[in-house]
Amino acid sequence: MAKSPRRKQVEAMILYPVDWLEERSGLVGGIKYFLFRKVPGDTGWAHTLGSATLTAFLVQAITGVILAMYYKPSTNEAYASVQHITNDVEFGWLVRGMHRWGASVFIILLFFHMARVFLYGAYKYPRELNWIVGFILLILGMFEGFTGYLLPYDQTAYWATVVGMNITANGPFVGTILGQIMQGGPAIGPDTLSRFYSLHMLVAPGLIFALIGLHLYLVIRLGVTSPPWSKEAAGSEHAEREPEPQPRAGLVAPTTRGRPEA
Ligand code: HEM
Repeated sequence: MAKSPRRKQVEAMILYPVDWLEERSGLVGGIKYFLFRKVPGDTGWAHTLGSATLTAFLVQAITGVILAMYYKPSTNEAYASVQHITNDVEFGWLVRGMHRWGASVFIILLFFHMARVFLYGAYKYPRELNWIVGFILLILGMFEGFTGYLLPYDQTAYWATVVGMNITANGPFVGTILGQIMQGGPAIGPDTLSRFYSLHMLVAPGLIFALIGLHLYLVIRLGVTSPPWSKEAAGSEHAEREPEPQPRAGLVAPTTRGRPEA
């Protein structure tokens, strides 16, 4: 069916900025590749846990930014500012509740995702580096939980942090110095609170965002693994084999990735 002039006009209006962006950045092609790339036919619900973890992290980032607009990181005002968010600010109770409960959801999903990767053997060659990046993300995720716990500055927050700091300071080799750096003084006080706040809302989330970028880049580059029982799983008889590389000038002993040299 022929397109009406109006439709053509609308299409041109939409395509102009898209083409403009694509020609100057290649971003549109990149996003298309990301969305329409091939994944094994037998991926299932367990493969969605990584994206679920990402969603939980984004919820934390958004609700955290809103909380930071009202929170006051000083020992005199922190508790009152959190009470103000909960009782007076419009939907403050909801945003704070989402952030507080969401922290646990994020950590639980992280562990479920990690368990899926482990049980499917998806940490093996060539994905070892992505496992290492994931492990650093796990440590940073738990660090977020620890630093965030002090911020309401109530009795639970204070004493839980005392316990955490004592555990850190008793660690071998670097424990003492790490404890001193984090505490920022001889006792938990104003300097600890502002230090934890800065680590909680700037340093750790910044690192997590950057590492998630690297993690996803590696997922796209290496592809997603099939379940171990799959007929398509790497190494199984029916799996598609990479074609043998042809000798080329400059390649001394060409081999298929991962196969030991003959
Ligand atoms: C902020 C935390 C994390 C986010 C947002 C995240 C996100 C993702 C996503 C979206 C995928 C692709 C889909 C899937 O397999 O579910 C993935 C795959 C993967 N993740 Fe994570 N992940 C995180 C933490 C971790 C942790 C803690 C580990 C392990 C220590 C890990 C190891 C891996 C590995 C090895 C893969 C490749 C799996 C495959 O190819 O089948 N990730 N991740």
